[in-house]
Amino acid sequence: MTSASPSNDEHPMMGPGRGRLEGKVAAITGANSGIGRATARLFAREGAKVVAVDLVEDVSPRVDALIQGEGGDAVFYKGDVTSFESCQGMVNTALERYGDLDILVNNAGAGVWGRVDQLSEEDWKKIVNLNLTGVFLGSKAALPHMMAQGKGSIVNTASTFGLLGTASYAVYSASKGGVVLLTRSMAIDYGTMGIRVNCICPGGTATPRLLRILTEGKSPEEAAASVKAAGDINRAIQRLAHPEEIAYGMLFLASDEASFVTGHALAVDGGQTTDA
Ligand SMILES: NC(=O)c1ccc[n+]([C@@H]2O[C@H](COP(=O)([O-])OP(=O)(O)OC[C@H]3O[C@@H](n4cnc5c(N)ncnc54)[C@H](O)[C@@H]3O)[C@@H](O)[C@H]2O)c1
Repeated sequence: MTSASPSNDEHPMMGPGRGRLEGKVAAITGANSGIGRATARLFAREGAKVVAVDLVEDVSPRVDALIQGEGGDAVFYKGDVTSFESCQGMVNTALERYGDLDILVNNAGAGVWGRVDQLSEEDWKKIVNLNLTGVFLGSKAALPHMMAQGKGSIVNTASTFGLLGTASYAVYSASKGGVVLLTRSMAIDYGTMGIRVNCICPGGTATPRLLRILTEGKSPEEAAASVKAAGDINRAIQRLAHPEEIAYGMLFLASDEASFVTGHALAVDGGQTTDA
């Protein structure tokens, strides 16, 4: 990983694509970093035309340039998933540029640490607005087109913490639990309309942001111990996931290979939720 790169862009898992999303148009939110970036890149390798959505664009290389540099087709849309207007802009970009929208990955998200007594009302609203309302707004913008076409695949990024809950991460866990049940409800509502809705529940994943948090200001030994301790949460495999390992779960759920899978919360978590 280079300092210019916000993702593990050189990870060897990213082999040549096999056309698993050939002919599809996919919009991915939070696509300029971490899991979203790996997903956008993998989808493009698998033949999708990608609308890469992010609030932040000053990342080098920006994800669309990274994809284009590899021979893929991508456009960047500077959008905010907490705004319906912005989500409509994302959908319009897909329709104007590529003439369709088959896949939506509602991935943008973030967390604030704290128990309920420690969290401010402002923190609560900010995280629910991003993690849960953002999924609602992105889906609300995409669904009219998907319903008119009678096809579509929506993949939401939840979290293992949205299945289990965890200490001192109350609003994050609650918002991600909401994503799991919004996913199931939407799956029921749209199943007969040809639209599948699933979510992915990553375990601890070595995104640049998390690695920064774990290692900043620490000696190499302390940093390694901190990364190891974070990986232990994924208790069977006992390491952090690579973003690409989450992206492959996204790929399956998004693709026609999962044509009979809907309402599912797929844990990609190194066994974190085993025995749960
Ligand atoms: N990294 C983990 O360990 C982990 C584990 C479980 C779930 N997740 C979830 O995976 C998703 C991606 O996380 P990540 O670790 O890759 O994070 P990240 O911070 O690396 O990437 C998130 C991206 O979302 C963008 N973003 C933030 N707010 C936005 C908004 N309002 N509109 C559009 N884009 C916005 C950010 O600019 C950033 O590029 C999140 O939903 C996160 O909760 C992460």
